[in-house]
Amino acid sequence: MIILGIETSCDDTSAGIYCTRRKVMASVLATQIEHRAFGGVVPELASRVHLKNLPPVLRATLEDAELELSDIDAVAVTHGPGLLGSLLVGLAFARSLTKAWDKPLVGVHHIESHIMANNLERDMVFPAMALVVSGGHSQIILIREPGRYELLATTRDDAAGEAFDKVAKMLGLGYPGGPVVEKLAREGDPDALRLPIARLGDGSLDYSFSGLKTAARLAWEARSAVSDCELRDFCASLQKAIIGQLLERVKRAVRGRDIKAFYLAGGVAANRALLEAASNLLEPLGIPVFAPSPRYCTDNGIMVACAAANHLRDDREPPPIAEAFSRGNLASWR
Ligand SMILES: Nc1ncnc2c1ncn2[C@@H]1O[C@H](COP(=O)(O)OP(=O)(O)OP(=O)(O)O)[C@@H](O)[C@H]1O
Ligand SMILES: [Mg+2]
Repeated sequence: MIILGIETSCDDTSAGIYCTRRKVMASVLATQIEHRAFGGVVPELASRVHLKNLPPVLRATLEDAELELSDIDAVAVTHGPGLLGSLLVGLAFARSLTKAWDKPLVGVHHIESHIMANNLERDMVFPAMALVVSGGHSQIILIREPGRYELLATTRDDAAGEAFDKVAKMLGLGYPGGPVVEKLAREGDPDALRLPIARLGDGSLDYSFSGLKTAARLAWEARSAVSDCELRDFCASLQKAIIGQLLERVKRAVRGRDIKAFYLAGGVAANRALLEAASNLLEPLGIPVFAPSPRYCTDNGIMVACAAANHLRDDREPPPIAEAFSRGNLASWR
């Protein structure tokens, strides 16, 4: 089966073609640089740019796969969570393709597609656990099998990606902050600055990054000169504190659970220091750790098509496409 996936949940316009036998056939991404002048994503601008980008992105995807639209068996589209205007543009575009070519349309949850990006380059094994860390989410999810999810932890305020982005903005490093912080951190001393790791005190596995963000701001403002706290050391210390909190919860979440693999997912999963630290923590416990290649960690259309493959398996009727939604947990989706 050949599935076209379309992703427009935030500021990346992307499409991909996934074949259930050959995996990735094409993956095309148009990143919206139009937001850079604003230091963050402007929702209305994102919708307008998706509208402009979708036709050329689709054309390039079909050309890369050397296919025609008539060769596609189904169209999958992210229908939430995300920016409502952006989602509606993607949904309307996908729906018009399926109406014109009389193909099934499958709505995909954005977090499920981030997790299923792990299936693009290898076959995932279950039961498993996923750490979803992105611009809007920090969650630990138990995966009994594709489609059966239990939410074990979420964030009570900022997401891990937001912590990278907001502190990077304060440091004048631009948006998105995660990749540049990771690059600078490689040359820095992670023990140069002690930043706090939030513990919620009620035994909860939930995350909280707002205290870390404030501590980082105070430490940055308190420096007497830039040489007091080199930028690279600051980034290394920030990255260590974010990874430290992420994995402190993971360590407790895996305890007593019979899982065959641990998957990193979402944009922050592109961070190779996180992958290394998670592997060092879990592999001695007999739990192999995986992350998608960095290009499949951030938003992309191919992961949407890959997630939809499970919903189209075994000749089951494709799930009815719901409306676009801005918020909603994967565990209670559908
Ligand atoms: N190498 C990296 N290290 C740390 N963070 C990174 C890295 N690469 C990307 N990120 C972060 O990943 C985030 C973007 O990920 P993603 O595209 O999944 O987010 P989103 O789609 O906006 O949010 P969500 O998936 O929660 O809706 C940004 O916060 C970015 O800083
Ligand atoms: Mg995302």
